[in-house]
Amino acid sequence: MTRSEPDYLRAGGAAVVLAPGGGGVPAIAYWGEDLGAAAPVESLDGLALAQLPQPVSGGLDVPVRLSTVPLESQGWPGTPGLVGARGGRDFSPRFRVSGWARGDSDGSSLVVELSDDDARLDLELRFGLDGAGLFRQSARLTNRGDEPYELASLALTFPVPATAAEVLDTTGRHLRERHPQRHALTTGRYVRESRRGRPGADATLLLAVGAVGFGFERGLVHAVHLAWSGDHRLAVERTPTGETFLQAEELLRPGEVVLAPGESYETPEAVGAWGDGLNELAARFHRALRSRPRHPSRPRPVTLNTWEAVYFDLDHARLLELARAGARLGIERFVLDDGWFRGRRDDHAGLGDWFVDDRVFPDGLGPLIDDVTALGLEFGLWVEPEMVNPDSDLARARPEWLLQPGSGRLPLPARHQQVLDLTQPGAYAYLLERLDALLTENPKIAYLKWDHNRDLLEAGSTATGRSAGHEQTLAVYRLMDELRARHPSLEIESCASGGARVDLGILERTDRVWTSDCIDPIERLTIQKYTGLLLPPELMGMHISGPRSHSTGRTASLALRAGVALFGHLGVEWDVTGLTDAEAEELAGWIALHTERREWLHTGRVVHAELADPAADLRGVVADDGSRALFAFTQVGSSSAYPAAPIMIPGLDDDRVYEVALLPLPGAGNGPLPGARGELAWERTGLKMTGRMLRASGLRPPVLHPEELALIELTAR
Ligand code: DGJ
Repeated sequence: MTRSEPDYLRAGGAAVVLAPGGGGVPAIAYWGEDLGAAAPVESLDGLALAQLPQPVSGGLDVPVRLSTVPLESQGWPGTPGLVGARGGRDFSPRFRVSGWARGDSDGSSLVVELSDDDARLDLELRFGLDGAGLFRQSARLTNRGDEPYELASLALTFPVPATAAEVLDTTGRHLRERHPQRHALTTGRYVRESRRGRPGADATLLLAVGAVGFGFERGLVHAVHLAWSGDHRLAVERTPTGETFLQAEELLRPGEVVLAPGESYETPEAVGAWGDGLNELAARFHRALRSRPRHPSRPRPVTLNTWEAVYFDLDHARLLELARAGARLGIERFVLDDGWFRGRRDDHAGLGDWFVDDRVFPDGLGPLIDDVTALGLEFGLWVEPEMVNPDSDLARARPEWLLQPGSGRLPLPARHQQVLDLTQPGAYAYLLERLDALLTENPKIAYLKWDHNRDLLEAGSTATGRSAGHEQTLAVYRLMDELRARHPSLEIESCASGGARVDLGILERTDRVWTSDCIDPIERLTIQKYTGLLLPPELMGMHISGPRSHSTGRTASLALRAGVALFGHLGVEWDVTGLTDAEAEELAGWIALHTERREWLHTGRVVHAELADPAADLRGVVADDGSRALFAFTQVGSSSAYPAAPIMIPGLDDDRVYEVALLPLPGAGNGPLPGARGELAWERTGLKMTGRMLRASGLRPPVLHPEELALIELTAR
């Protein structure tokens, strides 16, 4: 089959033009803003033709175009899209198109079948634009030969405009996820990898490239994400021949994917987004996540998580006192964290033995669950299913169920734990039975906090002697899917020492992520801002900690701790049994302020403003219909401008008139600063301005001390 016409995908304000490239393999001639409904065939032809490079001296005699599976057989000198061989042979496939079919029921999509009869490989490529304008790609490779085919790499390729000049990604560590880093895009390849068996605290959720100076409010930017919870590779490459492209793939270990005759390998889905600014780009991910059939539709219950309140010091009376204090404050869900199961008195032992510890709960969890739910709270429970302590009955009974490189040698320990090999049917069945039994015997458990506290190292299976990361990730997905099928109303939180497993693969089967183990509000400003490039606020756990952060030692006011957590899935992680009356009143006020607004905060558009002042932060949510908005202005450090310089408020409806007011913060101590300032002109009267004026002219924010925050509420008249 030969195909000569370009194909035009169009949905959600985005467009992709696919043209037949080398050997007919599709090339993405365009990806970006919608090109309009009536793009005539000849202009699509023109668009594809206009991109074709000119043969030049020192090069091939034919023009070489970057295809969606760039290969040497097409003349491609850069990083190839497919790498593999059959005992060293068939290392350079040359594909021909054998099928090309549109399927536009939900958005706009295209499936292209490729085959190479000499190398005996079939490759199915799938392209789709969804209703949010996300560009989705995936592929399936099938071995049609008589001998095994060893796959090393199958990457999905997203060309970006030549205007891209800067790279943005994030890095981090435990307690400090998602910190941005930027550099100039130059010729060559920039790669971010995870070899941790989970995305990792340092994982970049997006690899983004954009025009000079692109930011949250403006600047053309394209980004890619891989919907996969295991090892992965994201890359951006600029060639000396004028192409720039993003690539996303699962990172495969040697011998990990060896396709037997007739077998196939499925890539995870790679998801691309573009925007005029990161706010618009992120909004596409938010919209797509919100359209999932199982996206949480009821208000996100305000959560009390026991970890930083009591750690391992569990006992019925103490927990009940905590739940009672929480209920009085407006808490709606109580989550019993680590420490409830057999032998788990600290973090050295017990993982794997998923039976209630009768030394702590002599009659099981039932009495505590009954008492907590009688207060009107939901009950949630912490688990860490994939993990096992060598000091556990499970590890002693089944040492062969621990992932390991072979010859009985265990990988180096992390948090005194190893990883259970879920690719072994016995281990998988054990976990499924244990989790299912817990949920069946305690039907009031509405929520699992599913933790994963170590990286995988040398993750081989004793059953095969081979690297098992790929199959392990699929097995975890199966386990979650099976549990959710058996317990349809169960909600699951993805936690991995905080935010080390945040990706659209795990999000297919979970209802929120634990954004970070660090609850220090100053750190959280950055962590939440950049996790929010992928996730809408209702999927991010944001908790109010005690006054002194357990992870940084910094002390912060309740107003700052609560104000920074306000927009997300709110929680409290603090021993609230010892609060003074004034503290309790203030905290209850913050919880009420959140619950009164969460419905529209959790369906609205997230806006981050670009402020000239690096010591200030302005972020907010505009209701989906533009009728109201809430912004938090945070004075992170001290500014040189005194009083504070005007701030422009973006993201509102240009033509609507908004009433602008400073929202009184709960708590008596949060009034004007004594003696430090006179009155802000609009503070008592409020303001009426159009969205356009607020965006283009702005307003003076109040003068704040460092680490103070003000809330600005806007209501359309
Ligand atoms: C790491 C999590 O991120 C914490 O919130 C807590 O659940 C601990 N694990 C418990 O071991």
